[in-house]
Amino acid sequence: MPDVTVTRRLMFNAAHRVHNPALSDAENLRLFGKCNNVNWHGHNYTLDVSVRGPIDERTGYVMDLGALKALVTARVIDQADHRNFNVDVPFMQGIIPTSENIIVAIWRELEPVVRPGRLVRLVLWETPNNYVEYSGE
Ligand code: NI
Repeated sequence: MPDVTVTRRLMFNAAHRVHNPALSDAENLRLFGKCNNVNWHGHNYTLDVSVRGPIDERTGYVMDLGALKALVTARVIDQADHRNFNVDVPFMQGIIPTSENIIVAIWRELEPVVRPGRLVRLVLWETPNNYVEYSGE
């Protein structure tokens, strides 16, 4: 059967502060600007999760997108939504919560458990203008 990529979009909102404790306050402010705000700030994140695999002959699906939604909700959205990446989210402990680091951490949460098909791409939008993508390399 042909391999097809299917994508489910999920949204969540979360707070963060982008700050490297190894650097001075002045250097943090210079590097991260508004995202270094001491008392946090929030973003409305959009996450696109893409899974690739053969079409199942019985269902016509690569993967049931409802099942994918449930999996991503349990593993990622329920951990991060209405939470603070710096202090609340187990898979981000000790990691500077840039979009780059968040998307790699989300990959590590999802890649081992996405079945059938395989996780091939994540896209994380931090704002309507800024997004990062990761394919596990
Ligand atoms: Ni920010």
